[in-house]
Amino acid sequence: MSVIVQEESGLFHLQSSGMSYMIQIVNGYPVHVYWGAPLKHRSVMENLLIHTSSTTGLDRLPQEYPQYGSGDFRNPAYQVELADGTRITELQYDSYRLIQGKPSLSGLPAVYTENESEAQTLELLLKDQYSGLTVVLQYTIFEQRNVIIRAARFINEGEETLRLRRALSASVDMYGQDELEMIYLSGAWAREGNIQRRSLRQGEIRIDSKRGMSSHQFNPFAALVTPETTENHGEAFGFSLVYSGGFEAVAEVDSFGSTRLGIGVNSFDFGWQLNAGEDFQTPETVMVYSNQGIGEMSRTYHRLYRSRLCRGTYRDRERPILVNNWEATYFNFNAEKLVSIAEEGARLGIELFVLDDGWFGRRDADNSSLGDWYEDRRKLPEGLADVAHRIRETGLQFGLWFEPEMISPESELYREHPDWCLHVPGRRRSEARWQLVLDYTRPEVRDYIYNSLSTIFSTVPISYVKWDMNRALTEMGSATLPPDRQAETAHRYVLGLYELLERITVQFPHILFESCASGGGRFDPGMLYYMPQTWTSDNTDAVERLKIQYGTSLVYPVSAIGAHVSAVPNHQVGRSTPLDFRGSVAMSGNFGYELDLTAFTDEEKNIVQRQVANYKEIRSLVQQGDLYRLKSPFAGNQSAWMFVSEDKMQALVYAFQVMAIPNGPQQILRLDGLNPELEYEVKSDINEESSIYGGDQLIQLGLALHYESKDYQSRCFTLRAIDRVLE
Ligand code: DGJ
Repeated sequence: MSVIVQEESGLFHLQSSGMSYMIQIVNGYPVHVYWGAPLKHRSVMENLLIHTSSTTGLDRLPQEYPQYGSGDFRNPAYQVELADGTRITELQYDSYRLIQGKPSLSGLPAVYTENESEAQTLELLLKDQYSGLTVVLQYTIFEQRNVIIRAARFINEGEETLRLRRALSASVDMYGQDELEMIYLSGAWAREGNIQRRSLRQGEIRIDSKRGMSSHQFNPFAALVTPETTENHGEAFGFSLVYSGGFEAVAEVDSFGSTRLGIGVNSFDFGWQLNAGEDFQTPETVMVYSNQGIGEMSRTYHRLYRSRLCRGTYRDRERPILVNNWEATYFNFNAEKLVSIAEEGARLGIELFVLDDGWFGRRDADNSSLGDWYEDRRKLPEGLADVAHRIRETGLQFGLWFEPEMISPESELYREHPDWCLHVPGRRRSEARWQLVLDYTRPEVRDYIYNSLSTIFSTVPISYVKWDMNRALTEMGSATLPPDRQAETAHRYVLGLYELLERITVQFPHILFESCASGGGRFDPGMLYYMPQTWTSDNTDAVERLKIQYGTSLVYPVSAIGAHVSAVPNHQVGRSTPLDFRGSVAMSGNFGYELDLTAFTDEEKNIVQRQVANYKEIRSLVQQGDLYRLKSPFAGNQSAWMFVSEDKMQALVYAFQVMAIPNGPQQILRLDGLNPELEYEVKSDINEESSIYGGDQLIQLGLALHYESKDYQSRCFTLRAIDRVLE
């Protein structure tokens, strides 16, 4: 049983194999009682009830969905303005409903079940006595995963219009924990995935995006951990928002030492008009509990997102090794050049060729043609379909780049529809990269894009699409929304995007979609629902990538993390690293190349051929295995991680040393995730001979790493458990 209900005492106990979450109705308020390691089901302890009694005032009451205006002065989970202009509502428990499985969320990406018995959903119905406002708190608990998924649905059951000013997905009051810390991912373009860990004290830490996209700056994720929590010990409470627009995650410590974490659509500049009879669904937030450190929190996210958020033909498939022409040619290519890269790729074992930006309209630079989604016959005189066929004849599949949410002022589309972009009439339209954002709140705009793309998808043999998005939203206003709905623009944009993505991905299930927003500007669970992989960063330097990929893996599965080998000196940082090192870093993700293969020497081509063959052997383990982070690149010169198969029979270890250390200390790497009872045959990339060690030895004693006295060294070990029957 996943949800135990004790009606007499108003107690709801949500239980998974390794976690309990308890809510109790106290004086009509849904009170947050507990979230942590599994508890046997009993009544709540008396002293907790005293603690949570409303006689202590709402400001001390740990709540599930707190309101503002009746004595709780912390950040509320929601705020609604009534027709008379007042903003006070008081949600009181009305009833509950249990649903087997997990209902989908209308118009929004969401984790799903394949079988109803995997999960159970509890809905708590709360009502405000005076306004007709009803809020349904939705909780899904998976039997075998330490995950709880929360969202809220607002329903206007009254007769007058309500205005939502704030509607978070979840709020949790953690009490009785001394001094929690908050972990989150910060960054910038080409610098995504920085892990921040900060102590929480009275006051708040807020991360958010006001950019209309989840953003490079902050990922829609936060975790609360104890000061003692490490990669493999201690408690971690993760919050990951399944949403691709502006968001907020705020941790607030009150004057009594309790921590409130609220997460959802950014309430800054948000509004939603809810007419009588209408409802509003918030996105969902995926909350993960781990008492085995941050690593186990990540693996719980990885398994869930890989198998119950990503969808479609490619969800469980090994992903093709690609070569992308962006850094090889930028805008300067012709059909011959593209085919020559594909031919070389075919010789080296690569499986997919991706034609990036520059094939459409009159796009010779990044200052024109977005929106004109037809081939540029100057560059491709025989047409796009012809190039695609020629590339397929080399043995590679063909993939294509689009930036479907954008419009260049210098384009046919803009000349025809100057009002199709987000804008505020009469005001300046702020360009970024010489482009504006299409108003996806408008169905006719989405239909135009749908028709443009589906015409190409139906006439050109396309197996892969890179869906790019290279600027944030500004002048968030829509020409077609009435004045009192203008504040809905940002969220409506995201809903419009999701509607289009649903249509396109369902219509063309054979296409593998990869999302991109100048690299990792929209690396979020919302996009993963439609596209199972994301271009992690425009920064392809292998040293930088160690951190970017490590940080991104805090939440996102390796199968989603696009990682390519690029040319040296690197185009972003000018650094030259050896091809082997670049290969090991990229092979730790969803692998490919982004360079001119025809410019390689024979020796380099041999290395590529080896890397490609090697990745084909290891990719199921890398993409579908469990990731164990062993050494953090944020901590210094060395880093390491490993991939372990679910049955623990196979593993793969990568270790990296960035700068050489003369006459350095002995480097020992302790492994993780292995079965201590098994023996493993261990093979290193620098030694033909293999050795046999016990899983316990590898975990406790570790492997010795021998680096050459050179910068940019990587080591790889493959481990295979020995079949005991044959021993
Ligand atoms: C930004 C992407 O992140 C790059 O990989 C490339 O596709 C460019 N856009 C093309 O304009």
